[in-house]
Amino acid sequence: MTQRGRFLSIEGGEGVGKSTQIAALAEAIRTAGHDVIVTREPGGTQGAEAIRQMLLGGTAERWLPRAEALLFAAARSDHVERLIEPALESGKWVISDRFIDSSRAYQGGGSGLSDADILTLHEIGSRGLMPDRTLILRIDPDEATRRASVRDHGKPDRIQAREADFHKGVDVAFVSYAEREPRVRLVNADGPPATVTSRLLAEISDLLVPE
Ligand code: TMP
Repeated sequence: MTQRGRFLSIEGGEGVGKSTQIAALAEAIRTAGHDVIVTREPGGTQGAEAIRQMLLGGTAERWLPRAEALLFAAARSDHVERLIEPALESGKWVISDRFIDSSRAYQGGGSGLSDADILTLHEIGSRGLMPDRTLILRIDPDEATRRASVRDHGKPDRIQAREADFHKGVDVAFVSYAEREPRVRLVNADGPPATVTSRLLAEISDLLVPE
C-alpha cells in the first residue's frame, strides 16, 4: 500500500517571501526523495482559480464578510477534493501557499464570523482536512508592507489593500494558533533566504524521517 503523503501549508502576512521559500522547501523535500506538488489558495484548480479572480479583484465592497468566507470555503473545497486529497492518497507531498488558517485569520477576525464558524464551513466544504504542519513566516510588519508594495508595484489586491490594523490583527491571530496548536509553527523570515529555508526544514524534520 502506498504511504499517504504529507500536507504542509505555508502562511504569513503579505511580503514575507513565501513564494521563494516554498520553492526552496519543495526542492529540499524532493532531494529527500519525495514527489512534491506545490499549489496555492485561493486557487490550485480551474474552479478555485475562477473563484480567486472574483475574490481578489473588484472594489473593497464587492463582497460582504459572510459571502467572502463562503467563497474561500468553496474554492478550498474544490482544491481539496480534486487536487490535494488525490495527491496525498497517491503518496505525494503537497505544499499549499496558504490554507485554512488564512481563512481563520483573514475572514474570522472581527468580520462577524467566529473561528468556530470558519471551521464549520471547512468541515462542510473540505471534511475538515488539516495540514500535517503549518509554517507561518513572520517578519517585522513595516518591512513586510514595504516588500509587498515593491512586489505589487503599489497596486495591492482587494484584501492586501485593507488597513494596517487589519493586517496586524491577522498576525495576532496567526500567533495565537501557534500558541495553542502544535501543528502550527512560527518561523522567523528575517535574514538570508537560505537561512530561512533551514529554519523551515528544522520545523518539518520529524516528518521527513521515514516511518
Ligand atoms: P496571496 O496570493 O498574495 O497570498 O494573496 C491571497 C490573498 O487572499 C491574501 O491577501 C490573503 C487572502 N486570503 C484570505 O483572505 N483568506 C483565505 O482563506 C486565503 C487562502 C487567502
